[in-house]
Amino acid sequence: MGMERTLSREFLHVVEVAAIESARTMGKGDRRHSDHVATEAMRKTMDGVHMRGTIVIGEGERDEAPMLYIGEKVGRGADDDPEIDIAVDPLEGTNLCATGESNAIATFAAANKGGLLHAPDCYMEKIIVGPAAKGAVHLDATPKENLTAIAKRLHREVKDLVVIVLERERHQPLIEQIRSAGARIRLISDGDLAAGISAAVRGTNVHAVMGTGGAPEGVLAAAAIRCLNGGMQGRLVKTKEGQEQRMKKMGIDDPKRIFTERDLAPGPEIVFAASGVTDGNFMRGVRFFGHGCRTSSIIMSLQDHHVRFVDTVHLDGTPDVVVEF
Ligand code: FBP
Repeated sequence: MGMERTLSREFLHVVEVAAIESARTMGKGDRRHSDHVATEAMRKTMDGVHMRGTIVIGEGERDEAPMLYIGEKVGRGADDDPEIDIAVDPLEGTNLCATGESNAIATFAAANKGGLLHAPDCYMEKIIVGPAAKGAVHLDATPKENLTAIAKRLHREVKDLVVIVLERERHQPLIEQIRSAGARIRLISDGDLAAGISAAVRGTNVHAVMGTGGAPEGVLAAAAIRCLNGGMQGRLVKTKEGQEQRMKKMGIDDPKRIFTERDLAPGPEIVFAASGVTDGNFMRGVRFFGHGCRTSSIIMSLQDHHVRFVDTVHLDGTPDVVVEF
């Protein structure tokens, strides 16, 4: 039996625990602390999982991240445990959590060894669309061309489309081009990974994500997009000196290469899990009550073709505990 079947439940628990711990810090204004508790909870929970895991996308390089750094070994690590590559963003949207805004999530992706791109902590230029527009967009096309292609696939007009863009100075030209093409825009302060997942789920009223965000979030998005059968293209953008050499060391010979979702998360087995920290488009935030808490998560597996929306009540174990529907 593959890891999708044997480990999915445990992976779900990993994101649930990270979401619960960071949600306790919601609105406290300390994004680093929120990130730290999520990372610690994820690290601790992963160590109980029967796997020989390696972090390939994590909290940063070894010298700057005490936990879940790239290359760190996680899991129980018995000789007969499967070798798994892991991408994590324990708290995606640290500011969103610190200020209590929507769409902060805890995220995790796992694949067989070699099943996720090893990328440094740089930026990535991205375009993400749902299944209907898969294969119709290109990173080097103009926003107008891409929007026209998406609209055609969705049997509607460009003016009916909603594009999510991170509100950043660097995106001013992109925003102007989307506006002049006639599409509607939702500007977000943070969280292009949750946005990317929304674009691949019909009914969220998000039809594309465009612009430049974190590369780690890009690889995690690709894992989710593959499970949701959406489409994505991404190109790494270096943010610091020395990152090109780092890319080469990680096996990326052409730093200007355009990666598809399949290049970023080749699989063949992939599990993607996310849990809501604050309320979001398709997951609610953690709700605490007297005898426990309730989490809202998504867990998807590629080969098994499952997308599960999971609502879990975590009880504190006292005998008089009451579960509400
Ligand atoms: P954090 O969770 O690390 O705070 O990242 C949030 C985020 O908005 C991502 O969703 C996005 O990919 C990235 O930051 C964009 O980076 P920047 O804020 O430097 O533009």
